[in-house]
Amino acid sequence: MDAAKAAPPPVLILLGPPGAGKGTQARMLEDRFGYVQLSTGDLLRAAVAAGTEAGKAADDVMKSGGLVSDEIVIDILRDRINAPDCASGVILDGFPRTAVQAESLDALLVESGQRIDIAVSLEVDDEAMVDRIAGRYSCAGCGEGYHDTFKKPARPDQCDQCGGTQMKRRADDTAEAVGTRLKAYHAQTAPLITHYEEAEVLHRVRAMGPIDEVATALGTVVRQATATA
Ligand code: AP5
Repeated sequence: MDAAKAAPPPVLILLGPPGAGKGTQARMLEDRFGYVQLSTGDLLRAAVAAGTEAGKAADDVMKSGGLVSDEIVIDILRDRINAPDCASGVILDGFPRTAVQAESLDALLVESGQRIDIAVSLEVDDEAMVDRIAGRYSCAGCGEGYHDTFKKPARPDQCDQCGGTQMKRRADDTAEAVGTRLKAYHAQTAPLITHYEEAEVLHRVRAMGPIDEVATALGTVVRQATATA
């Protein structure tokens, strides 16, 4: 009998400040590679909407632009990453964001026999982020993301993906909260770039160009990293 073991599902991390394009690119990677996007921001917003204990604790922190406690975020991520649909591989969008979260992720992956295949830092200039975030909105039905200037739906106010006509904007996309989110990124998340560089899984992708151009560069990096994993 062939004793060769199947390779564990790939784990990709997308790092980058608010507005860098993590969510946009994660969705494109899902379509292209069949991995599942796990956005801790989306999971937390769902918890807030559902009125769970975690959601109640996270609500005000998120509106202010601060980071939700490691304990809450790790619990939410742990529940989700073990779901059956994640067996094809995952793209972690917005996690880890602190050294404690990075350590917890390593421990979680050891338990499941997985490891981080690639961590990509989306490199952008802070000044451009405010424009990106101020113009952002999404479909209330399916969550597809759009932008007033950079990514408009084919028909005004109608989602290209599901045809929905209800669009929404995020409560934490105010100038004040964006400033706080950027500060939190530089103080607590940016140091993880060095962490993953030392682990020899880090790739940097310049993310100031148009969405499709960034997607092409990112796709090439992911394909190469997962082919050699
Ligand atoms: P989260 O939802 O993760 O927000 P974020 O990290 O601030 O990132 P964004 O979603 O704002 O930006 P993005 O990089 O995904 O950009 P996008 O693709 O949308 O977190 C929200 C909050 O939840 C946090 O502040 C915190 O409170 C809490 N939280 C979440 N995870 C946590 C954790 N692990 N620990 C603790 N707390 C946590 O793009 C933005 C816009 O730009 C879009 O309109 C898009 O169309 C456009 N765009 C994208 N790419 C380009 C491009 N190349 N050119 C032009 N426009 C572009």
